Amino acid sequence: MNTPSSLPELIARQKPGHALEQAFYTSPEIFDADMAQIFYREWLFVAPSCELAKKGSYITHQVGAYTVVIVRGQDDVIRAFHNSCRHRGSVICKNKSGQAAKLVCPYHQWTYELDGRLLWARDMGPDFDPSQHGLKPVHCRAEFGLIYICLADEAPDFDTFAETVRPYVEVHDLANAKVAYQSSIIEKGNWKLVWENNRECYHCAGNHPDLCRTYPEDPSITGVSADGTFPPKVEDHFNRMEAEGAPSRFKMDDNGQFRVARMPLLDGAQSYTLNGKIAVQKRLGRISSLEAGTLVLFNYPTTWNHMLTDHAITFRVTPISPTETEVTTFWLVNKDAVEGVDYDREQLTVVWEHTNDEDRRVVEDNQRGINSPAFQPGPYSPTHEDGVLQFVNWYCRTMSQRMAPTSLAAE
Ligand code: FES
Ligand SMILES: [Fe+2]
Repeated sequence: MNTPSSLPELIARQKPGHALEQAFYTSPEIFDADMAQIFYREWLFVAPSCELAKKGSYITHQVGAYTVVIVRGQDDVIRAFHNSCRHRGSVICKNKSGQAAKLVCPYHQWTYELDGRLLWARDMGPDFDPSQHGLKPVHCRAEFGLIYICLADEAPDFDTFAETVRPYVEVHDLANAKVAYQSSIIEKGNWKLVWENNRECYHCAGNHPDLCRTYPEDPSITGVSADGTFPPKVEDHFNRMEAEGAPSRFKMDDNGQFRVARMPLLDGAQSYTLNGKIAVQKRLGRISSLEAGTLVLFNYPTTWNHMLTDHAITFRVTPISPTETEVTTFWLVNKDAVEGVDYDREQLTVVWEHTNDEDRRVVEDNQRGINSPAFQPGPYSPTHEDGVLQFVNWYCRTMSQRMAPTSLAAE
């Protein structure tokens, strides 16, 4: 097969309704382009804000070549900075998370305030101006309990997402949550395979025995509705939940980058547990109904979420290499819920721990098969895989708009 000289050419020759070609999942050049054009430009979910519970709490996050520190200031404002010292560039915070009164560089102890100002630098001479050497800021928004960052110099619009999604998420009161558990796994698959797998439940019956006890395989729930209509059962659910004050109706932005909707679980199911009952007795948020289903929210390229009436689960996707992706999962419960009293950690996490591991396995199998020279992209199921097509179309549209036609050839 001849190799097109540019990514837009490769995108243009994709067969409609079919999986992408091998290079999208294996090529280092396309991986670099994905990072430059998507991950270095879009708003990225990094953590729930309750992860930074106290003043001086910080986390670090690596996105491609960038290392970022996100920290709660003395004024309670959450800010993000490039984790690179303004002296000779050392990383400042070396741990994944921690607590600090000031940010002190480990190399020569330049000391920064939590708001990024340089406070102290030893023996730098009379002409040294500390105000010119504060930490470089990274765009950061903490909204309805979720923290997003953007690495671009000029961040794209965030308000459309925030304003559309806020009423749906606010009823879950994530600002008053705590992280009951978190896990990070590395899936040996391209980040797009992680997303494609997430965007369909064609694979659920064959792979997710625990999840399928409560989560419907119905493609109208996993996928997207091209014409904005849903089966009567789902419409009834939207109506019932909206009457209870919980915004539920399906919404998607014009660009197809984010989607939010409150979807029913299987009849009688309350939460993602093995017995279908709530896992946390001290519930999270303001929805009284026990059968409120799950608020499903995705926002490309980094996060999908399930918000229930007793807990919420938020997922973060971080590409590591063309064939490796980190998936981090945060289980959030009411900050006053006590482990062993209000919830059992195992019972809370078992369904999605298993589901994540099952998804890891199918993604890795998918990647290994795609690596074969014999791989030929096959057709998507029109019934079950419209969500995958929607993701792939968003990706192709975004990349074609941003890549000059000759950019691969020029490298
Ligand atoms: S590199 Fe940070 S103090 Fe020198
Ligand atoms: Fe899955």
